[in-house]
Amino acid sequence: MYVLVTGGIGYIGSHIVLELMKLDIKVIIIDNLSNSSIKVLDRIIIISNKIPLFFNIDINDENKLDWLFLNYKISTVIHLAGFKSVGDSVKNPINYYHNNIGGTITLLTVMKKYNVYDIIFSSSATVYGVTKLMPISEKCALNPINPYGKTKLYIENLLLDIFKSNIQWNVIILRYFNPVGAHKSGLIGDNPSLIPNNLMPYITQVAVKKLEKLFIYGKDYNTKDGTGIRDYIHVVDLAVGHVKALFYMQNKHICEIFNLGTGIGYSVLELVKTFEAVSGVKINFTFVDRRAGDLDIIYADSSLAREKLEFHPQFNLDDMCTDSWIFQKNNPDGYL
Ligand code: NAD
Ligand code: UD1
Repeated sequence: MYVLVTGGIGYIGSHIVLELMKLDIKVIIIDNLSNSSIKVLDRIIIISNKIPLFFNIDINDENKLDWLFLNYKISTVIHLAGFKSVGDSVKNPINYYHNNIGGTITLLTVMKKYNVYDIIFSSSATVYGVTKLMPISEKCALNPINPYGKTKLYIENLLLDIFKSNIQWNVIILRYFNPVGAHKSGLIGDNPSLIPNNLMPYITQVAVKKLEKLFIYGKDYNTKDGTGIRDYIHVVDLAVGHVKALFYMQNKHICEIFNLGTGIGYSVLELVKTFEAVSGVKINFTFVDRRAGDLDIIYADSSLAREKLEFHPQFNLDDMCTDSWIFQKNNPDGYL
């Protein structure tokens, strides 16, 4: 039996694939490479010394998915494939609704046809929207404010509905906070194709002088130093969280939602200072206006994942900055 990882060539998926293969779990990756490079597959093979099955399949392509499920015995799907840029989703909402929601509907249709009912879905803390209640627990109100976040909430609701329709379904929804860091080999990591939207890849690109300086969005938030606070989580810890979820859901018929964060909030300036300390590189920055849609503070109540999944992140902010830096330094131009 195989675990199918959709979007498994991407930033988070590639780290999940490595954690699964470490435990000798048989993996199939599908990815249409719309936001990733096939070179990641070579690097997965170098790091693990194993060869996962890979197919260039779009999750919207029902015929190819049908072929895949017919020919391989799949026990569980870890579903990451989708678009993830907030800004792009505001400009091109149809693409986001089509790829994220449409693709998931096609995937679920084929899973049902082949009696594959176990799914772990990549959701995001962005489904919470604007809230003042910190730390945020899974029970907090949901109110995403951008099309990307709305597609995540739509899929969450779809999964809750299919579970109610047939309890053979076995569903875990993971709401990621802010994944950063990279595999300790320095061979795979976050490699945005355009100018990064997220803080950590922006900082690392300033550090290698691909970008001139960091623009810090806002210095008058109601936080300790006036800059925004987030719950950064090392991507390897996040990947391990998926393995824990996979074990937890075995022989169950559940539909459960977990935050995956560390439960600790750090400010933009704390991240910059930590990065400078571990890398020895000075980050030029300037303060600019707040970014529309940004919250002042958001960090996870991670107690549910801790108790039920035994999820205990191992890596601290130093590790996150060090590993992001090593990846960027080794790959200043990405996977070229
Ligand atoms: P990523 O873009 O690096 O990985 C997604 C992968 O999916 C890419 O390799 C892309 O080529 C592939 N893909 C996209 N559409 C596809 C399709 N129709 N068919 C097949 N493959 C397709 O992104 P990531 O950071 O690894 O994120 C993975 C998942 O986690 C996404 O669903 C994202 O929304 C979610 N998530 C990410 C973050 C984050 O900060 N990175 C935070 C919360 C949630
Ligand atoms: C963003 C997304 C969110 C997504 C998350 C993880 C927005 C509005 N939200 O959230 O949907 O789930 O990434 O992928 O895009 N910052 C700067 N300068 C920069 C970049 C960021 O000061 O160039 C600040 C931000 O204001 C924020 C912090 O750094 O305070 C983290 O930003 P970012 O990495 O974009 O993550 P989120 O804002 O949490």
